[in-house]
Amino acid sequence: QSLKIGLIPADGIGKEVIPAARRVLEAIGSDIPKPEFVPLLAGWEVFVRDGTALPEETVEALRECDGALFGAVSSPSRRVTGYSSPIVALRKELDLYANVRPVISVSANPDDKPAVDLVVVRENTECLYVKQEQLVHSENGREARAIRLITERASRRIGKMAFEIALSRPRKQVTIVHKSNVLTITDGLFRETIRQIPSESNGRYDSVKLEEQIVDSAVYRLFREPQIYDVMVAPNLYGDILSDAAAALVGSLGLVPSVNAGDKFVMGEPVHGSAPDIEGKGIANPIAAIRSAALMLRHLGYAAPAHRIDRAVDQVIREGQVLTPDLGGKSSTDDVLNAVLKKL
Ligand code: NAI
Ligand code: MG
Repeated sequence: QSLKIGLIPADGIGKEVIPAARRVLEAIGSDIPKPEFVPLLAGWEVFVRDGTALPEETVEALRECDGALFGAVSSPSRRVTGYSSPIVALRKELDLYANVRPVISVSANPDDKPAVDLVVVRENTECLYVKQEQLVHSENGREARAIRLITERASRRIGKMAFEIALSRPRKQVTIVHKSNVLTITDGLFRETIRQIPSESNGRYDSVKLEEQIVDSAVYRLFREPQIYDVMVAPNLYGDILSDAAAALVGSLGLVPSVNAGDKFVMGEPVHGSAPDIEGKGIANPIAAIRSAALMLRHLGYAAPAHRIDRAVDQVIREGQVLTPDLGGKSSTDDVLNAVLKKL
């Protein structure tokens, strides 16, 4: 028996951090079935070469895998004919409807509670990311419009995921993040649907405390008193922004992992992008990718080895001797990888 894992480094530092995560998975030993890695293509470079950012073979191969790791794509900020972000497409193709992003600070003393310990649960398939944009010409000149899709079905399943995650955590608190004071219909549906979940759950979520917060003040309070949050559940765009913002609280985007999870498949993915400013320098922080591998294992049911990886990473951060420049250190990607491997 083996654990078949698709590897999609894609662009930029994705190609530097995904190999590091692979090395860590290889070093786990008999706690998991022997990993078998399937290298796969996607991204901007592939698009420039072959005219498609997500080759059909990649999607087909992933359907045969137990899990996957995705690096990052260099999506251009301008519109390019024929190009569409492969990560957004993959989330849809594989129905990876939840993006789960734990943001945890490492305390100086291993016995202390971390100052920040929260999970952003981001809806991954709809909201403005359905990308139904339109440019029309009106008396105001060019006018751009976008559809924002919120469905009851997607809101319910992301809400349930948030409640399930809360159940597994000591504080058991879910905060719905929305803007339903302004967007009463779309965010209103998101909020209403999630608020109803406890009463439809036969008591399963009775121990979970349900809170809510308007998105702008949620960001404000996140910066002033991050400890008030446990599990934050949000529509796609707010969740995207919230999790990058939360990453600033723990020192670097280079530390924050995520998984894209559906009912049948899970794909780990560092929250950061392809970081063109440091690409090719060998100084990308591999920790977000390594933690994403651990999070993937956790979602596949291998909690113990996931925990071992997280502890090894925490020790390296806590000791502070081997850190990449984003954390104020002078070490390389490989130095950090080797330090983590040694702790393992
Ligand atoms: P970014 O996350 O790539 O970089 C933001 C800043 O954080 C940069 O200064 C970068 O050097 C730093 N940083 C990020 N990850 C790091 C790491 N592991 N170690 C050390 N420093 C790190 O965001 P940016 O610059 O806005 O986007 C660059 C490209 O990445 C764009 O083309 C964007 O479309 C893409 N992107 C892709 C994502 C994905 O694949 N899911 C997510 C976010 C952005
Ligand atoms: Mg983002």
